[in-house]
Amino acid sequence: MSATTPASPDASPFERVGGHAVMRAITDRFYDLMDQDPAYAELRAVHATDLSDMRAQLPLFLAGWAGGPRDWFEANPGKCMMSAHGGIAITRATAEQWAEAMNRAIASVELSDRAIGDAMADVLSRMAKGMARD
Ligand code: HEM
Repeated sequence: MSATTPASPDASPFERVGGHAVMRAITDRFYDLMDQDPAYAELRAVHATDLSDMRAQLPLFLAGWAGGPRDWFEANPGKCMMSAHGGIAITRATAEQWAEAMNRAIASVELSDRAIGDAMADVLSRMAKGMARD
């Protein structure tokens, strides 16, 4: 499914937003913002210097999470979002930065179905904020 072909109403959210190309565009924009906008400096500081592994992992996670190919889940059996972040001290400030950068990234990308993109942004924001430990 390309980013320009409308998907059928019973397609998965993954297909409806535009598949892998769109997931990669969203996550590349997300990490560009995190890397370059000083508003996300605190969030950037808790990540590894080299973001290339996260640029590869996050689009695969989002693909499976949104009902598409489950490569990330098959490569990480038993792992969930809480266990993946178990050793990371997530604060309200960094969770809010994550949510805001993801909202901006989703808003900046051309999607086959904007309503699904908006719903994804909303749910991901709630998940991120729910991960704060302080
Ligand atoms: C819905 C929200 C989030 C999603 C979907 C998400 C997704 C992911 C994924 C898929 C990984 C790779 C895990 C692995 O393969 O082991 C990861 C790692 C990581 N996440 Fe998140 N994350 C979220 C929220 C956050 C927040 C709020 C923070 C704030 C500190 C954060 C910080 C990190 C860090 C530091 C890593 C390790 C990667 C590195 O060291 O560069 N994440 N995340």
